[in-house]
Amino acid sequence: MQESGDFLVCGIIGYVGKKRAIPVIIEGLETLEYRGYDSAGLAYLNQQNELKIIKEKGNIIELRKILDFNEESNIGIGHTRWATHGIPSKVNSHPHHVGNITLVHNGIIENYEELKKHELLKDYKFISSTDTEVVCALINSLYNKKKDLLKALEEANKVLIGSYALGILLDNDLAHIYIIKKDSPLIVGIGKNENFIASDVPAILKHTKNYILLNDNDIGIISKNDFKIYNKGKIVKKEILEFEWDLEASMKNGYEHFMLKEIYEQPKVVKQIINEYIKDNELINLPDLTKYKRIDIVGCGSAYHAGLIAKHLFEEYADTEINVAIASEYRYTKNFLDKDSLLIVISQSGETADTLASLRLVKEKGIDTLAIVNVVGSSIAREAKEVLYIKAGPEIAVATTKAYTAQVLLLSLLAFKTGIDKKLITSSDKTKVINEYNSLNKIIEEILEHCDECEKIAKKIYKHEDIFFLGRKVDYAITMEGSLKLKEISYIHSESYPSGELKHGTIALINKNTPVISVITDESIALKTISNIKETKARDSYSIILSSINMDNNKECYDELISIPKVHPLIEPILPVIYLQLIAYYVAKFNGCDIDKPRNLAKSVTVE
Ligand code: AGP
Repeated sequence: MQESGDFLVCGIIGYVGKKRAIPVIIEGLETLEYRGYDSAGLAYLNQQNELKIIKEKGNIIELRKILDFNEESNIGIGHTRWATHGIPSKVNSHPHHVGNITLVHNGIIENYEELKKHELLKDYKFISSTDTEVVCALINSLYNKKKDLLKALEEANKVLIGSYALGILLDNDLAHIYIIKKDSPLIVGIGKNENFIASDVPAILKHTKNYILLNDNDIGIISKNDFKIYNKGKIVKKEILEFEWDLEASMKNGYEHFMLKEIYEQPKVVKQIINEYIKDNELINLPDLTKYKRIDIVGCGSAYHAGLIAKHLFEEYADTEINVAIASEYRYTKNFLDKDSLLIVISQSGETADTLASLRLVKEKGIDTLAIVNVVGSSIAREAKEVLYIKAGPEIAVATTKAYTAQVLLLSLLAFKTGIDKKLITSSDKTKVINEYNSLNKIIEEILEHCDECEKIAKKIYKHEDIFFLGRKVDYAITMEGSLKLKEISYIHSESYPSGELKHGTIALINKNTPVISVITDESIALKTISNIKETKARDSYSIILSSINMDNNKECYDELISIPKVHPLIEPILPVIYLQLIAYYVAKFNGCDIDKPRNLAKSVTVE
């Protein structure tokens, strides 16, 4: 597994000034935690001019345990790593040190393999397999040649291909941090008798709101009272800006809650997944599942709901029978998998105890296992025989949104691929579906731009104590996720029910104005669901319908209608949940709930 590429959502901070550097750096790294991390480290020069590098796999608490906060140092750099490839490890974590150079890096060097063969590096022995170490060794060699670090950085900038924000310490230079920026975020914080570098504003907001923005190819030298920025060898003037958000707001990019921020990140996440698994109108990087006679899917909560959606898609488009189970049940029930079987485990955190236990149980029998995971290097990702990363980036809100959507999309692509491999998809259909996958992020953007009806509907139902969700087949699976979102952040009792089952008892609970939220996307059973909704209307329910089917002839069965864009059924299950996430969000908001950290819940349930 390629180790490089721990990029894009890493955090960098650097400090030079009157204060003790270590606490400033550690607190700065902690504000960047929302960017996620699986390892962290820092380097500083103490008053005796000794360079110290402390770095550890795991989170910043591990780092805190091994630091001497009283160490006298006024200059240092720090880094948190959110790996998107490769396993977190101490040797791969930053800062990296070669010769006279110590640096932290956010970005990805695309030509790092070729650079390893660079004339200047021919005698260098690499200890990690990251691109960052290559950059560090190259800059060190150029520095030894030029005896001027700024000139060395100018030279390095000519050969590096990719994105990089670098914070650099030079041995024996207690007064300066050096920087170079290209395609990765980096700012310089301007304080009184102190200056900072950071990949994001939250890391320095406690100390200063003044900062300068760097442009691509900016190279700089920062001291506690001064900074000089060069671009292509010429000094450039920088305007000092003032940041208007407070710390909390800036970590959420201005959104009121992480959950809302993550709902609005879904177009970007979807695009990233499509770029990873579709190239030149062909599916890539996806396994061939046709050899498996039986496939089980397990997960918990929303991950389980994603598995339920996959069941419908695999059975409908890949003619493959899928058994979906809740992991905490699955691990204790008789298991029928054999050598021709596959277990797919779904988990955002990759640490959910019941899901991990189910994986281990099946793996012990020598059965193939495939994990669909967000957190790189997590237990489930490492222990499954194969892993497909959803690359949704760190998800902070306890209630999953973007990771769930990413799971469903990846499962949809897997079902589609399996259908193609089994020659069940015509080439015209294949082209149509791939075109729709390619425009999915735009469709979701469109939904998010015109979704104020979700807030209006939430305003009408947020005081209710019971809310029902109805659907059939895949629509029922969709409503299960909508119901869970509502429950876990607004604490309102909610049930998702197969609409055909309602009359077998539960309809007795429908009172006047009881909100009933129905999803209708599957045309084959739309009329059936509509007649079930009419049964609730006969009992004066407050009927809200999310439908991709024309409802003109059924106006009497809804009080609110959200029309969902019509796309191919392989993709369609992704769209209704965007609205349901927002309805749940606003219901919780109107109820004044702690949306990002709901009571009694954890982001990852690592115990049974
Ligand atoms: C979803 O909003 C919940 N936070 C919860 O149901 C979650 O999906 C479940 O705990 C599984 O977590 P995992 O995906 O990290 O395994």
